[in-house]
Amino acid sequence: MLNLFGRRRKSASADGQNEAPQGELPRHVAIIMDGNGRWAHRRGLPRIAGHHAGMKTVREVIRACDDFGIPCLTLYAFSTENWKRPEGEVEYLMRLPEEFFRSEIDELVDRGVQVRFIGDTTKLPTHTQETVRRTLERTKTNDGMTVNFALNYGGRAEVVEAVRAVAREVAAGVLDADALDEDKFAIHLSTHGLPDPDLVIRTSGEVRLSNFLIWQAAYAELWFTDVLWPDFDRDQLRQALTEYTGRMRRFGGLK
Ligand code: FPP
Repeated sequence: MLNLFGRRRKSASADGQNEAPQGELPRHVAIIMDGNGRWAHRRGLPRIAGHHAGMKTVREVIRACDDFGIPCLTLYAFSTENWKRPEGEVEYLMRLPEEFFRSEIDELVDRGVQVRFIGDTTKLPTHTQETVRRTLERTKTNDGMTVNFALNYGGRAEVVEAVRAVAREVAAGVLDADALDEDKFAIHLSTHGLPDPDLVIRTSGEVRLSNFLIWQAAYAELWFTDVLWPDFDRDQLRQALTEYTGRMRRFGGLK
């Protein structure tokens, strides 16, 4: 069965685990994965244990989104502000993509997932950049779900970068400043070609966007949960999607 956006819903598994909520599902879900540190702290574990547990949730959530037929998922894995964390934690976070893709790449390829990265990956350690390069290469021809990892990503930095690109076009006489509109501007964002997020989820009880997709999420529905990211699972996601399908989106107009 095709969903409303032409994407094929997976057939339901015998245990109903694959079953997506009824209704118009988001084309793009974006998640602020928060609460790894608190999850670890509550267990008397080092913060990095929380990040490791969070990585397993990443795997489960990608699987669930793919099973539910969500065409695009963006995960906030490392922000431009996260460099302020202790060196050891940053180092660990920079190793996680390597570990994650080493164990998951075959399944991602089997599922036809195309992996993309948003954020300034040129500032990542060489080994992380190598993982980024290899992952892009392995998945570039896949035509299934898109999974974006936001790595060294900041919404304001992204907008400034886009403004620079537009300014260059104007200076070069390629673009008339008065002809600039939202669509022409958005071409210069790292999410170009993807739908704007319809649903932004944040875990751990914090209620803010933290510089995540600030342009793209202008009309997104927001969903917050107190559940810490390592405890987030398929049922939580289903709950968020169910609530989303019940919301009336008006985009400033009248229904
Ligand atoms: C925020 O929780 C989480 C992060 C800054 C890192 C998120 C990273 C992962 C979930 C793993 C990423 C996996 C891959 C494959 C790249 P926090 O540490 O701020 O939690 P706290 O607010 O409880 O301290």
